[in-house]
Amino acid sequence: MEILKVKDYEEMSKKACSIMIEKMNSLERPVLGMATGSTPEGLYQQLIRAYQEEKVSFKQVSTFNLDEYVGIERENPNSYHYYMKDKLFGHIDLLPENAHLPNGNAADLDLECWEYENKIRNAGQIDLQVVGLGLNGHIGFNEPGTPFSSRTQVINLAESTRKANARFFASLNEVPTQAITMGIDTIMESKQILLLVSGKKKADPLARLLNGEVSEDFPASILHRHPSVLIIADEEACQYV
Ligand code: GLP
Repeated sequence: MEILKVKDYEEMSKKACSIMIEKMNSLERPVLGMATGSTPEGLYQQLIRAYQEEKVSFKQVSTFNLDEYVGIERENPNSYHYYMKDKLFGHIDLLPENAHLPNGNAADLDLECWEYENKIRNAGQIDLQVVGLGLNGHIGFNEPGTPFSSRTQVINLAESTRKANARFFASLNEVPTQAITMGIDTIMESKQILLLVSGKKKADPLARLLNGEVSEDFPASILHRHPSVLIIADEEACQYV
């Protein structure tokens, strides 16, 4: 696991963007893993700019998102479908059929998870997976206690995660209680992982990730066992590192 310390959120976003562009431009059919949350928003703005400046095209790219809430309509601004369209997909030349997110409204959620796994498998390996760090160490929505061997599944969201994400909703009551998430083992099969960490709220979890033991109590700790992880973290997040 390698860590790149940068000054601030903007520098983190720009660095992540240049790594993604390099990856996309080096492959014929790049497969990218996307994350949501506040952290990658700046990265997505940089990618849009790079596309507008014709530094990159997404025509040959396929994407797979880490997760989606259960029971929220795609058109709901809090869905991750909406987020991706709003923050990235609606502004680039990615073909709609190549953008994949789990369907949190599927009639049969277990079948949906299985089909999502198959789609990833059929696309080959994910070349570069962007990941954020949950305050409790979750990656995707894999909450503490999730087996490292997990594949894409329906997960019950931790109360602390619902509270952390309540800022996007009208009230805590509206935050879904479940989500579909790529499993930990699914994420670990990506060829390369880019973990973005920004802000003082992430200082504790980042220190635990770097100094703590590998344990299912802190899902991100599994990344120590991946052969190619780059963490880009800003000064605020690095204050205890
Ligand atoms: C969210 C998402 C994760 C994200 C993490 C951190 O709940 N499911 O994919 O990486 O929590 O979010 P943020 O970037 O807003 O701190």
